[in-house]
Amino acid sequence: MVKRIKELEKTSRLLEPSAHERKEVRKKVITYSETFLNDIEKIKAYNVTIGKGIDILESPIGEKPIDIDKAIKLIEKNVDFPGLNPASGGHLGYIPGGGIYYSALGDYLADIFNRYAGVFYASPGAVRMENMMIRWLAGIVGFPKTAGGNLTSGGSLANLMGIVTARDAKTISSKNICQSVIYLTKQVHHSVSKAIRIAGLNECIVRFVPMDERFRMNTKELEKMLSLDKQSKLNPFLVIASAGTTDTGAVDPLEEIGTLAKNYNLWYHIDAAYGGFFILTDEGKIKLKGIELADSLVIDPHKGLFLPYGLGVVLVRDVKHLQKSHYYQAQYLQDALAGADELSPADLSPELTKHFRGLRLWLPLKLMGVKPFRACLEEKLLLTKYFHSEIGKLGFEVGPEPELTVSTYRWIPTLRQTPGDINKINEFNKKLLEAVVADGRIFISSTMIDGKFTLRFACLAFRTHLKQVDLLLKILKEKVAVLEKMK
Ligand SMILES: Cc1ncc(COP(=O)(O)O)c(C=O)c1O
Repeated sequence: MVKRIKELEKTSRLLEPSAHERKEVRKKVITYSETFLNDIEKIKAYNVTIGKGIDILESPIGEKPIDIDKAIKLIEKNVDFPGLNPASGGHLGYIPGGGIYYSALGDYLADIFNRYAGVFYASPGAVRMENMMIRWLAGIVGFPKTAGGNLTSGGSLANLMGIVTARDAKTISSKNICQSVIYLTKQVHHSVSKAIRIAGLNECIVRFVPMDERFRMNTKELEKMLSLDKQSKLNPFLVIASAGTTDTGAVDPLEEIGTLAKNYNLWYHIDAAYGGFFILTDEGKIKLKGIELADSLVIDPHKGLFLPYGLGVVLVRDVKHLQKSHYYQAQYLQDALAGADELSPADLSPELTKHFRGLRLWLPLKLMGVKPFRACLEEKLLLTKYFHSEIGKLGFEVGPEPELTVSTYRWIPTLRQTPGDINKINEFNKKLLEAVVADGRIFISSTMIDGKFTLRFACLAFRTHLKQVDLLLKILKEKVAVLEKMK
């Protein structure tokens, strides 16, 4: 047996590269990533390819290793080239991501040291750091000292945790689920609807509150619904507002909804995954007034703080509720119970072992301070106003004045034989989108609003500046001219 153990040790030690091997591989990885970063302004925002990364499948996982050069070539060709380049300043579709560099270094350190950030006993410093970030976030949105939260993998998980917490705090169970009512608008992000289903709340009554012309929840209608539902002996328990909808960037009247939530004893959940960080700006503070009234709130650093993908946050006004829904004990973890100065993430989330996400948030904020983040957010607000006004000047039909950094627009083509034909107008705008995406220098996306194929300008990539917005305006003008001729 000892002989076999020693044999196995020899092979298993291959898992620990030598200092020299580490240096060689690291050099190549750094060279590859530095080339990307140095060329980022020249690299397209979207690459249409025929294979769509299919060749990655030609190199199956097997017993034999390959060298780092080959591995990088596979990644470069099949992973980093095809499709969307979210690191690009030309990413003006969906809700853009980013990829702040120091977060990558935070992740590097988190992975090398592999601190066990789920439990205070195992890694008190890591847990203190994560909770410190939660307290900072709770502070900027104006939550009281009772607040707590969790660093999640993204906004969808954060929404799920908020909704599960609401369900338990309002004691929704098989006994009352069919009489229990949830209020939201059709503009709510689909991760919220998914969360309602996953949380087992599909049998609740879901009321879609009508919206005003700017896609914001109409609070008069909400109040009417609440009062009728109360009279009908139903159980209104949850209202969900958006602080920045994905489709149009609308911010619901957060303060008025908060007052109704209080008067009707509802749990108030706000999805501020996209819009929450604008609270760091003066304009955002005004637009997001009332955010502090939420019982649970989602805010995504991998959107509004431009971090690489993998960080959302759920905040709960009274952490006791989050804990009640997510806490569990195991016998083998009995030693971990003693001497905890801080609540452990494992007691506040469905996860036990987890990535130490705090470091990717803490490091860039410490190395750069909050100021450039605030400036970047304010710049995006102004770039969106600029786009909205310039695209109108080009003759596009524009949506409502942007509230945050999403602006909608579409081209109404000259249709001599069938003016106003919605299908033809939709088709034209679809072709326009495809032409911009095929060009690839700028990436845009679309949505359907009242049956209209509508183009979206979504400005949140930290590398987007005036140059990229002007380029988009130029591309749109050129493509419209070409498509108008082809009709
Ligand atoms: C408003 C809003 N909520 C929630 C989400 C879901 O977040 P994630 O993609 O991080 O899961 C998004 C994603 O774009 C969003 O825009």
